[in-house]
Amino acid sequence: MQFEVFTLLPEVFPAYLDTSIIKRARERGLIQVNVHNIRDYTHDKHHTTDDTPYGGGGGMVMKPEPVFEAVETVLGFPLVQAAAPGGEDAARSGKNIPIILLTPQGRVFNQSIARELAGYPRIALLCGRYEGIDERVREHLITDEISIGDYVLTGGELPALILIDAVSRLLPDVLGDPTGAEDDSHAMGLLEYPHYTRPPEFRGWKVPEVLLSGDHGRIEKWRREQALLRTLRKRPDMLEKADLSEADKKFVNSLKSKVE
Ligand SMILES: C[S@@+](CC[C@H](N)C(=O)[O-])C[C@H]1O[C@@H](n2cnc3c(N)ncnc32)[C@H](O)[C@@H]1O
Repeated sequence: MQFEVFTLLPEVFPAYLDTSIIKRARERGLIQVNVHNIRDYTHDKHHTTDDTPYGGGGGMVMKPEPVFEAVETVLGFPLVQAAAPGGEDAARSGKNIPIILLTPQGRVFNQSIARELAGYPRIALLCGRYEGIDERVREHLITDEISIGDYVLTGGELPALILIDAVSRLLPDVLGDPTGAEDDSHAMGLLEYPHYTRPPEFRGWKVPEVLLSGDHGRIEKWRREQALLRTLRKRPDMLEKADLSEADKKFVNSLKSKVE
């Protein structure tokens, strides 16, 4: 899968992309992350990428021209002749490449959006800075807007890395253990069960006996019940939407009746 990232701060990316699972996925050719500096698509002496907002007010706004040119050049779209009657916007010109603006105004990123994006061979991620980007970019270039939560960051670079990370680990062969992503929190609509490793006893705190038993049936049952228990305690909203078996429902009801 190929990620095309458009940013004013390309230097933010290498440290994370050259580490651990994402690094190995890149080296093995499972993902490719191309980081493009929007400033390279300016044509004036000062390489201007921002300007003051029309109508006044504080802060700066990212100019539309370098953003359009960067995305259209890299993705191979024709430059849009804006406002031409019946003209087709680049974003709607039939190429099946999501062009995603990272913005606190977008749909809030979650595991199901990560899965949806993992189905594309190539996606483009546009990182904002300052007060944001000229609205014509939102109207005529991008195809989607994603937020990583209801708070405001200084730029879209961390959100882009978060999206790349969450999507990449869902791709075939990226994780060493192919079942690794299946049990993760949110993957099955529940929070994941607790993990323990050696030693079996630390400062008097013991690993639950069942995990040392070698009885896989009991371990599976315990893990499922722990996942249900912690989802009920921490995220009851998730439990309402989760796909539960009859045994799960019975277990949850028994927990609820204990609490009531
Ligand atoms: C300071 S923010 C601009 C916020 C903008 N003035 C607003 O109120 O919607 C600068 C950039 O950071 C990125 N950003 C900030 N918070 C974000 C979030 N929660 N999710 C995704 N991107 C975010 C966006 O790319 C945004 O253009």
